[in-house]
Amino acid sequence: MVRAPCLLLLLLWSLMHVSATVPEPCEVDDDNFRCVCNFTNPQPNWSSALSCINAVEVEIRGGGRSLHQFIKIADTDLKLYANLVRTLPLQRLTVGAARVPALLLFAVLRGLGYSRLNELMLEDLEVTGTPPPPPLEATGPALSTLSIRNVSWATGGSWLAELQQWILPDIKVLNIAQADSLAFSCAELRTFPALVTLNLSDNPGLGEHGLTVALCPHKFPALRELEVRNAGMKTPNGVCEALAAAGVQPHHLDLSHNSLRATAPGAPGCVWPSTLNSLILSFAGLEQVPKGLPSKLSVLDLSFNRLNREPRVDELPTVGSLTLDGNPFLDPRPPTHQEDPNDSGMVSACASSMLAVGMSGALALLQGAGAFA
Ligand SMILES: *[C@@H]1O[C@H](CO)[C@@H](O)[C@H](O)[C@H]1NC(C)=O
Ligand SMILES: *[C@@H]1O[C@H](CO)[C@@H](O)[C@H](O)[C@H]1NC(C)=O
Ligand SMILES: *[C@@H]1O[C@H](CO)[C@@H](O)[C@H](O)[C@H]1NC(C)=O
Ligand SMILES: *[C@@H]1O[C@H](CO)[C@@H](O)[C@H](O)[C@H]1NC(C)=O
Ligand SMILES: *[C@@H]1O[C@H](CO)[C@@H](O)[C@H](O)[C@H]1NC(C)=O
Repeated sequence: MVRAPCLLLLLLWSLMHVSATVPEPCEVDDDNFRCVCNFTNPQPNWSSALSCINAVEVEIRGGGRSLHQFIKIADTDLKLYANLVRTLPLQRLTVGAARVPALLLFAVLRGLGYSRLNELMLEDLEVTGTPPPPPLEATGPALSTLSIRNVSWATGGSWLAELQQWILPDIKVLNIAQADSLAFSCAELRTFPALVTLNLSDNPGLGEHGLTVALCPHKFPALRELEVRNAGMKTPNGVCEALAAAGVQPHHLDLSHNSLRATAPGAPGCVWPSTLNSLILSFAGLEQVPKGLPSKLSVLDLSFNRLNREPRVDELPTVGSLTLDGNPFLDPRPPTHQEDPNDSGMVSACASSMLAVGMSGALALLQGAGAFA
């Protein structure tokens, strides 16, 4: 037990170029729970990362630099360190702001297969070079959540199929934002047997067509929640068609923060998945309730749209819980404690007092012009 950490220490020391000048890049909180490393300095002391060894949550940012110098890790037999890695309390890991060779990334994932890592977040990375040959047996961490934001891959649309080979198939939640390619090669992709939540929010270029391509048929059999906020969706009907084409059966669909329009008149109708019972259409710029919504829903959220009148019963699905806050027809609006991050109550209060100033200004002008004389 004593020897393994020493070996790792030696390995790390032999790989790292230690510099004498800079402050400690890693900080651990008092409970030894969370450790954050920022290697932005020009000559960072990489071995400072060792201070994270007892932390449960670790965040490492590479200051945008290349991690190619650590490529030797990919040639190391990580089995030698399995016992050490098993003792790590690490559960949540964020790696950000770096250029990482695919060889290194996947070697590290394989090594983390011995760990208790549950949640992995990759952010602002450029993954370079060709990936290693696929592993012969299931390997990698048993993640429940994988989040990927602004990561580019040298291998284009194959990236998810490649990454998938280096994590176990237990994953339940997959978040992919600011992706440079969601045009997955479906033939290469394996099934995600346990994936409950797929979140493709914050991909403004996706659109309905991109969604149809991303939702590879039969690869998401357990999907219950699909989030496509701010993802360039144009009409609920188009999204319905994408779901039908992919054969996914979500219970919850979040289309908020897209600029949605009502479906064009004469557009063919679409049959929504019979499982769908919760539909979020908030912050979608809607001026009327779109036609062709599912006929029955438990939850329909139409808050913070531009509805100028209260929707008639015949325009709405049969719905258990309907949210309409933040629509103009409810003005003057009561203070809302809804999810609007911008305090719209404040904004509208400002706007109306500016309007008042404007009105009295206009009155003063009119008076000045002798209109009331
Ligand atoms: C680098 O970090 C290690 C671990 O925190 C520390 O022991 C060492 O003194 C640091 N080296 C320099 C040169 O600052
Ligand atoms: C990392 O450190 C640099 C300077 O050393 C600083 O400018 C930057 O804001 C830090 N980044 C984070 C995420 O803390
Ligand atoms: C995305 O990641 C790249 C590094 O790969 C970085 O240069 C860029 O600033 C990031 N973009 C955003 C919006 O954070
Ligand atoms: C879905 O992804 C977006 C963008 O990354 C994020 O802001 C949001 O919190 C995610 N939703 C959930 C439920 O995690
Ligand atoms: C909040 O307001 C800012 C500035 O007006 C805007 O850029 C942003 O999109 C708004 N956010 C939401 C969620 O409406």
